[in-house]
Amino acid sequence: MKQNKTQLTPEEKKLFGDLMPEDLEEVIHSGFNRRHFVKLMGLATAGLLASHLIGAEQLFARSLDLEEIPDLIPEAIENGVTVNFKVNSSLSKVTVDSRMTLLDTLRERIGLTGSKKGCDHGQCGACTVIVDGNRVLSCLTLAASCEGKSVITIEGLAKENELNPMQSAFLKHDGFQCGFCTPGQICSAVALMKEAKEGQASFITKDIREHRQGIMLSEEEISERMSGNICRCGAYPNIVAAIKEAQSGKSIEQSWLFAG
Ligand code: FES
Ligand code: FES
Repeated sequence: MKQNKTQLTPEEKKLFGDLMPEDLEEVIHSGFNRRHFVKLMGLATAGLLASHLIGAEQLFARSLDLEEIPDLIPEAIENGVTVNFKVNSSLSKVTVDSRMTLLDTLRERIGLTGSKKGCDHGQCGACTVIVDGNRVLSCLTLAASCEGKSVITIEGLAKENELNPMQSAFLKHDGFQCGFCTPGQICSAVALMKEAKEGQASFITKDIREHRQGIMLSEEEISERMSGNICRCGAYPNIVAAIKEAQSGKSIEQSWLFAG
């Protein structure tokens, strides 16, 4: 049988020593089992745990050893597939469950937590990243489908200490409040520039047969094309101003001022 390798902390030893002194040695050597649990619950119902609440909190707040989480061991991954792709200019090779989304892979396996999980259902845009130049909802994209592709997240947009022009424009125009939607908004806005350059039509394009390239987006067009990115703080007018400035390269007056 697998040995319980969890060591008791000094606080836990003290707690058990106070509550069940006759069982302490056994708990230390063979781990905590059901018999101990039942006994502890009996003591709790008698109200004896009340004066040890601080000790009990320490007992449950202890961090886990990595080896105690079996699903991080590659052999334990169900239906594992190995994905080789480029993430923010670095080659990444990661073995994931074939059903794992790109969003979870970026956040939990590669450690890039800039892309946010809002709805996890393709409805809020917080998880938007750029795959081979196009914006995608990473919560609806399987990591396995990114083999050989290039993924850019918010962490990859700045060049060393130099912000991407879209990031600078968001700062200038105060395009965020709580900032939760901002990584997705900025990735979406950066990929939007490519869509505009290629003349891709949107829902409000009047004549989709007209050959258009390098179009300058109106405020209405920007709002429509960014409608998949939800901002619960309502920073929309400033986001539109930021995108307009980043696309035109012309300085647009700020519409906000610090309170005097
Ligand atoms: S988290 Fe992906 S769209 Fe909301
Ligand atoms: S800035 Fe708060 S959700 Fe957009």
